[in-house]
Amino acid sequence: MSGPLDGKVVAVTGANSGIGEAIAKEAAAQGAAVVIDWVVDPAATEGVVADIESRGGRCHAVQADVAKVADLQKIVDAAVAAFGRLDVWVNNAGIEVGQTLTDLDEEKYDRLMGINLKGAVFGTQVAAAQMRAQGDGGVIVNITSTHEDWPMPSDLAYCVSKGGMRMLTRTAGVELGPDRIRVVGVGPGAILTPINADDDAAAQAALRAAIPLGYEAEPAEIATVVCWAASDAAKYVTATTVMADGGLMQKPGAV
Ligand SMILES: NC(=O)c1ccc[n+]([C@@H]2O[C@H](COP(=O)([O-])OP(=O)(O)OC[C@H]3O[C@@H](n4cnc5c(N)ncnc54)[C@H](O)[C@@H]3O)[C@@H](O)[C@H]2O)c1
Repeated sequence: MSGPLDGKVVAVTGANSGIGEAIAKEAAAQGAAVVIDWVVDPAATEGVVADIESRGGRCHAVQADVAKVADLQKIVDAAVAAFGRLDVWVNNAGIEVGQTLTDLDEEKYDRLMGINLKGAVFGTQVAAAQMRAQGDGGVIVNITSTHEDWPMPSDLAYCVSKGGMRMLTRTAGVELGPDRIRVVGVGPGAILTPINADDDAAAQAALRAAIPLGYEAEPAEIATVVCWAASDAAKYVTATTVMADGGLMQKPGAV
């Protein structure tokens, strides 16, 4: 449990599943002490903590709903209480609702935006406040998507939220630069996680065929990109998004 994130304290939201779980495990493997946030499924959460600790890593879990600012502050406070500081914050928690503009209902829109966008905006705010108080910089990573840029009419609200995270990354990156707090987006393409479990087989096959690298990635393949963005190897990278999509967005007519 040692590497580029030695001595860093990393908080990851929505980290008992999928990409967030992989980020937590990779950050711990690279030397970080990790705080994971979860909202449902304590058993899965305990499994992530136990896995990291069994490899000699350090991990603390806190239950918090990212749609509530007070809960986001709870995550910061937990990082400081458990490990003394906060160096890296990853806005990862996210959901899809699968509705077109025509079908979209207010309740689902509010729920999605509360988690995906409000959670990321205020997550960035509370994390940046702690990093500023520490006075020696930090990194905020936003897990966006190809859909920060790429329309998907079957889920309009998701695209609006990820487009918002794109501008959060750029705007907060500019605001926080003088404090040496970097803000980096990581935009996954098609990743094998529960969020896609309901997609039908034909749609999945068409998507796979459209990916220049020819396969959907494992969450671990995103986690290494996130840990790179969080490390000093990326110390001149801010206010931008790194796409990790197997080339999908560049293929003409992919969707
Ligand atoms: N899987 C993909 O193909 C893909 C592609 C691009 C972007 N992403 C993004 O990656 C991120 C992680 O998604 P995933 O694919 O791992 O899906 P996932 O469903 O496995 O993970 C989502 C996590 O967010 C948590 N969560 C949901 N609501 C929450 C809340 N209110 N408070 C705290 N946590 C909450 C869930 O419990 C879960 O742990 C999301 O932001 C998603 O938009 C995923």
